[in-house]
Amino acid sequence: MTVKIKVENLSKIFGKNPKNVLEKLEHGVSKEKILQETGHTVGVNNVSFEVEEGKIFVIMGLSGSGKSTLIRCLNLLNKPTQGKILIDGEDIVEYDKQKLKEFRQKKVAMVFQHFGLLTHRTVLDNVVYGLEIRGISPEERYRIARENLAIVGLRGWEDHYPNELSGGMQQRVGLARALANNPDILLMDEPFSALDPLIKREMQQELLDLQARLKKTIVFITHDINEAFKLGDRVAIMKDSVIEQVGTPEEILATPKNEYIKKFVKDIDRSKVLQAKNVMFKPSTVVSVKDGVKIAINEMEQSGLSSVFVVDKERRLLGLVTIDDAIKALKENKRLADIIQENYFTTGPETYVQELIPIATKNKYPIAVVDEDKRLLGIIVRVSVLSSLV
Ligand SMILES: Nc1ncnc2c1ncn2[C@@H]1O[C@H](COP(=O)(O)OP(=O)(O)OP(=O)(O)O)[C@@H](O)[C@H]1O
Ligand SMILES: [Mg+2]
Repeated sequence: MTVKIKVENLSKIFGKNPKNVLEKLEHGVSKEKILQETGHTVGVNNVSFEVEEGKIFVIMGLSGSGKSTLIRCLNLLNKPTQGKILIDGEDIVEYDKQKLKEFRQKKVAMVFQHFGLLTHRTVLDNVVYGLEIRGISPEERYRIARENLAIVGLRGWEDHYPNELSGGMQQRVGLARALANNPDILLMDEPFSALDPLIKREMQQELLDLQARLKKTIVFITHDINEAFKLGDRVAIMKDSVIEQVGTPEEILATPKNEYIKKFVKDIDRSKVLQAKNVMFKPSTVVSVKDGVKIAINEMEQSGLSSVFVVDKERRLLGLVTIDDAIKALKENKRLADIIQENYFTTGPETYVQELIPIATKNKYPIAVVDEDKRLLGIIVRVSVLSSLV
């Protein structure tokens, strides 16, 4: 995995003499006290994190926690008071004017909460805007703009004006405009917060679909923990200008670092975050098809199970054998292969627990989790699905 963005000890203080305030901050003086004593506002306080190429990194936190200040540092709309921002290994804080201009035009694009569209320009001309600035020929820029409008599902709306579009559609224009420059990095500051819940969910899904194809590196801001956990490969939770915890949604759910994080994740619908791979476990026993009936019975007796999965020598799943069938087979001199049944449910490792709940509660046999080659990765029993939810 390549690290695309690496932020090291980044601080941003607003006010006349921010550098003078740094020392107080480093000595642990609180944000309130700094404001009272010096009139400076701490936006971001000593934040470090990494974003891998092609991943979605979500920054989440309550209003005023420093999210926008932080994301605006990533394209230097905010000049950091201290710290490094390495993008592809280069510290952009050190960039001169020319390099910064190139960086902003080619490598990074931003999508804003309130869309930020030019109301007097058509949809097409909004998307063209950045390409125009870059001096791309009219023919080429209109071709690119149309292509990107199609990508976000707005073919046919090119000649309309932004105020003729719904909020969701306006944000699609914002997204098309950001994509038009083909940036490696997309910065999205609460892009869906102004949308009503249904449209919001639709846009979230579309972003995930788009991302599966385009594989941008995305920094996405939200104050909605459900949105954060749905979209984020990794999530950083901010409070009072610092990052309280960074991790995958599963990590944060499983080991919230403190009471504050616990309170946040309390409202999370765990079944929409946890996947089969998070709740499966290694079966205590499997039998190989060449082991035979006797060994199968033995294994089941020893582990106290009434059924066992049968695999081939590459650990590919062949089926399931029950203890009743096995005992009968022993009497009737049948082979293990004769009594293998397929009356159970298989799933992939990425299936959400939400979809597994009804299956796990109905089926008497464990759910088999298999990879693309049908290799058995783990099993899920009813109790592990249910206990993952509390
Ligand atoms: N340009 C600025 N000048 C002075 N203070 C600022 C500026 N921008 C942000 N701040 C302050 O920095 C702190 C963090 O604000 P920021 O906008 O980053 O929060 P946020 O997490 O994005 O909040 P929201 O969810 O409301 O958008 C706040 O105390 C805010 O008042
Ligand atoms: Mg903000």
